[in-house]
Amino acid sequence: SFGPNIFVESQWIPFKAAIDTHIHKTWSATSVVNGKAINDNMVDGDTHQLDKQAVRAPWNHEVIAGEVVYANATIAQQAIAAVVAGQETWQAVTATKRAAILRKIADLYEENYAELMALCQVEAGKTLQDSIDEIKEAVDFCRFYADEAERLDDVIYEFTDLAGKPSRQVYKARGSFICISPWNFPLAIYTGQVVAALAAGNTVVAKPAEQTSLIAHFAAQLMYQAGVPVEALQLVIGAGDVGAALTAADNIAGVIFTGSTQTAQRINQSLNAHAQASGELPVFIAETGGQNAMIMDSTALPEQVVRDAVLSAFGSAGQRCSACRILCVQEEMADDLIELLQGNMAELIVGNPLYATTDVGPVIDIDAKRGLEAHIERMRAEPTATILAQTPMSDSSEISQDQATFVLPTAIEVKSIDVIGGEHFGPILHVLRYEARDLNKLIDAINATGFGLTLGIHSRIENTVEHIERRAFVGNTYINRNQIGAVVNVQPFGGCGLSGTGPKAGGPHYVARLMTLTTEPLAA
Ligand code: SER
Repeated sequence: SFGPNIFVESQWIPFKAAIDTHIHKTWSATSVVNGKAINDNMVDGDTHQLDKQAVRAPWNHEVIAGEVVYANATIAQQAIAAVVAGQETWQAVTATKRAAILRKIADLYEENYAELMALCQVEAGKTLQDSIDEIKEAVDFCRFYADEAERLDDVIYEFTDLAGKPSRQVYKARGSFICISPWNFPLAIYTGQVVAALAAGNTVVAKPAEQTSLIAHFAAQLMYQAGVPVEALQLVIGAGDVGAALTAADNIAGVIFTGSTQTAQRINQSLNAHAQASGELPVFIAETGGQNAMIMDSTALPEQVVRDAVLSAFGSAGQRCSACRILCVQEEMADDLIELLQGNMAELIVGNPLYATTDVGPVIDIDAKRGLEAHIERMRAEPTATILAQTPMSDSSEISQDQATFVLPTAIEVKSIDVIGGEHFGPILHVLRYEARDLNKLIDAINATGFGLTLGIHSRIENTVEHIERRAFVGNTYINRNQIGAVVNVQPFGGCGLSGTGPKAGGPHYVARLMTLTTEPLAA
């Protein structure tokens, strides 16, 4: 069980009570263009109300968290026009001032933690610990990218030509960015993308995942309150159709995207087609999926491997791009390890994310649940695969499965990586046995998935660890620990191959990538 790690009762009771005062609130979200909430738009001279949708909690569909007003392509274009018009003003704001605004966003997130946590729980179905981590990461992104804005402002390269005339190279803003963020980190990744672009002096159209529009809207209000000018940040609420309208727009400097590899490929094609037509070459930064493995050898500590694999696979209901999808176990250890895994999974508490003891909450929506359960059924019917364990819903969760989107944590033994058939974004862990002499073949098979995000290594032999690290094609490696929860400016995060383009979020190259270097003459 890996529930919240804040158990000092005197602190815990008021902390939880503050969150609970917001749990039964109803929120609303609209797009925001030039500071104005967009509830309708004009069509042929008439005012039309936009589509509205009720937001239901993933752990209990009878709980209505609020209402979301969906934008359309016209609103998307208005948002683009607004940021393009606002670019000159925002990039003239000094780096010191931009950094101060970002730090103020961090302060406001901390002051409003109770409402933000309630939103993470109600709208995204996050457990308490995941909601705490979400807010911490968002705050870390604001403070780190604020520091980056100031650091890059001081990075000036000076040159002198043969005649002694000086010139210099400085970082400058690129222009207007579109930030398309995912529902699995509805505050952290959304905030990270937006504040990085703002730190660079770029204006932003944010298009958060439609599943988590309420939290994005609430956070945007805090960003404006912190001093982000209304012309520098536009919020567009909607689904893939408005995302597509945004990425097909003229005059954008780039797109920052986190989500599935398939959507990243579609955005890339759209940007390429648009570049051919318009001659513009926007920057594209994508952080996408993974088919992440944890490799353990016979020198690893089995209890530790199981604890770390279970947290990496089932924490956040497996809805992390970093999550462990394949536990690779050296044959000699496999039977014992599987027994330990079954025992550990039996201890997991699956249920209502509002309860402090819950380990695994729901998945985000019915489409996710159907896709994951279809994979489990396919594996059940697959002659070479075996279901090793499946944790039932906790009795105390008082949740009816037809009113919620839970997927039971499931471990499946497979004979090859191919049979898994790509990334399954939820609480499913595959277990693969390998012979020590086939370690290279195993690493090659992991590389052959084309993904390259996280890799866990459990071994007490330094040479083995180094060998796996050298041969594996991944973005983030973790040794003798879990493989999730990269910390800003500690483990800069991001993959290669099908897992993303880089630069790494929370690392020293991210804000720089959103800027351009200009070489200009200096007065002698
Ligand atoms: N950054 C997250 C992690 O490291 C995944 O998106 O778990």
